[in-house]
Amino acid sequence: MAYNVNSAMAIHTPKTLAFDIYGTLIDTHGVVNRLESLIGEIAGEFSVSWRNKQLEYSFRRGLMGCYQDFSVCTREALLYCCEQYKLNLSDDDIRSLLDLYRVLPAFADVEPALSIFNERGLACHAFSNGSRQAVQQLLEHAGLARLITSVVSVDDLQTFKPAPAVYQYFLQKAGSRPEHTWLVSSNPFDVIGATHAGWQTAWVYRHRGNVFDPWGMEPTITVSDLRELAAILVEHW
Ligand code: 2OP
Repeated sequence: MAYNVNSAMAIHTPKTLAFDIYGTLIDTHGVVNRLESLIGEIAGEFSVSWRNKQLEYSFRRGLMGCYQDFSVCTREALLYCCEQYKLNLSDDDIRSLLDLYRVLPAFADVEPALSIFNERGLACHAFSNGSRQAVQQLLEHAGLARLITSVVSVDDLQTFKPAPAVYQYFLQKAGSRPEHTWLVSSNPFDVIGATHAGWQTAWVYRHRGNVFDPWGMEPTITVSDLRELAAILVEHW
């Protein structure tokens, strides 16, 4: 099997699963078709820049103690990218893109994998920089809400991942211990944040060419998608 297990010991313990939302369960590039109709062939590149700027804004707001809902980071990043790419999108176009961002699609592997985790009796929490309301809307739209135990949002603390307080807050809400808690995320910054907090981590390596930050803080497991994680669960847990 292709997965890389960094710490086999960690697999055989009770566990709580915390799923990142944007980029892990939900495809942030689900706006590309709409973007293509508006801006043509640069849509893919634009979508990546938009996502990167959105994350940068959340990090900066967290550091500055200048919290705003993640949807503000999303909107301001979109406006920034329009300036950067010298695009003159109408207010209606901007609104339609932001509306679409609220109903982004899930990746195809998510529903079957979450069903397996549910069948095994594992608690599956959503753990996101998005507000509870935004995450709930995404999960409901994607037909995943019934598979999720609870939504834990950074909005309660008014800061963003990877602030250590946010990982601590999750443990408190889920009633779990760090060594029994698994962050499942495609975002290396999030995986490193959870590792730093003493959690187990599964890095979901969704795209060939994704690079993990060389900080010497490796994920416990690396998988290409959630089906692979579920297969490990069936085999080992
Ligand atoms: C999350 O859902 C931003 O992907 C990140 O928390």
